[in-house]
Amino acid sequence: MATDTTTVHVALSERSYDIEIGPRLLPEAGRFIVERTGCSHAVVVTDSNVESLHGQRVVESLERAGIRVDIATVPAGESTKSTSHVDELWRLMLEFAADRKSIVAAVGGGVVGDLAGFIAATYGRGIRFVQIPTTLLAQVDSSVGGKVGINLPGAKNMVGAFWQPAAVLIDTDVLNTLPLREYRSGLAEVVKYGVILDSDFFKYLEDHIDGLNNREPSVMRHIVARCCELKAQVVSADEREETGLRAVLNYGHTFCHAIEAETGYGTYLHGEAVAIGMLCASRLAEAMGRIDAELTRRQHALLEALGLPLTVPDVDHDVLIRAMQKDKKTEHGKLRFVLPTCLGHVELVSGVPADLVRAALAG
Ligand code: GLY
Repeated sequence: MATDTTTVHVALSERSYDIEIGPRLLPEAGRFIVERTGCSHAVVVTDSNVESLHGQRVVESLERAGIRVDIATVPAGESTKSTSHVDELWRLMLEFAADRKSIVAAVGGGVVGDLAGFIAATYGRGIRFVQIPTTLLAQVDSSVGGKVGINLPGAKNMVGAFWQPAAVLIDTDVLNTLPLREYRSGLAEVVKYGVILDSDFFKYLEDHIDGLNNREPSVMRHIVARCCELKAQVVSADEREETGLRAVLNYGHTFCHAIEAETGYGTYLHGEAVAIGMLCASRLAEAMGRIDAELTRRQHALLEALGLPLTVPDVDHDVLIRAMQKDKKTEHGKLRFVLPTCLGHVELVSGVPADLVRAALAG
């Protein structure tokens, strides 16, 4: 691998794996996958947007490495994370004569990674898979940590598994071709890591707004690597979100999920709803006397400089609160939030009164 490549290790005993991050890595995918898995057959799962842009390059690289390759291209978009596409992909895997020596390579954003990972977790009672994320959001969050799954009508990510990849390959050059709105959406999750775990990283983001907006290669490499390191630490400490540690990654997400559900999925990109959700959670923490207004102000200023939406959409607040009570992360309908105590530290807080949540939504 090139010298400008960073390796992050996810320590999970026998399920441990490496994340390789750097420029010009897609053409190395074949070698990388053979080294990590020793496979002889790969099924590349990608979507209709990514196939010609990046998927074919991964296929060619795998072929150069002497691997038999099949490709399954699903339609782009959240509605692909459905039982009907799972059914179709299971049948394709059979047609491709995939067996336990085969691997699934997910080349795409979060939808492709979650769906392909779910196929890998279930086909043949589980085969190995490699994540090759091509959106910022997938590179800093969804491709790491083994959460895979699909949606049920009206219930996002309701069916799935924890199935860790055998490796993750992140080519930061692919960020150059991301549509601006999608790129910015990924930046919201990047800001999240600073607030929840790393005040120095938050300051780095404040100091590199131009580099972030201009997608400067060195800034891209640094932010992706740092977010992966932070996520790796959290996942190693609480793989299955059992102790509350992994739950810190859900900062802003209780508000975010309600906004996504009640505005109709697709109205807001996930990161856009996360940005609004983080500001709501921060105001809530302020109202509970956990932080002062300065921390909310800094998040607001940074998210605004990165071009993210900041205001709660025009939806009845009681409707949003009811959606939060139904969230799969609530315990028996009690409102539960990840709230900051200072920059770089958050706590999981249960039983928050609805009137404080209403006030936080009102801004
Ligand atoms: N995206 C949250 C998690 O991986 O736990």
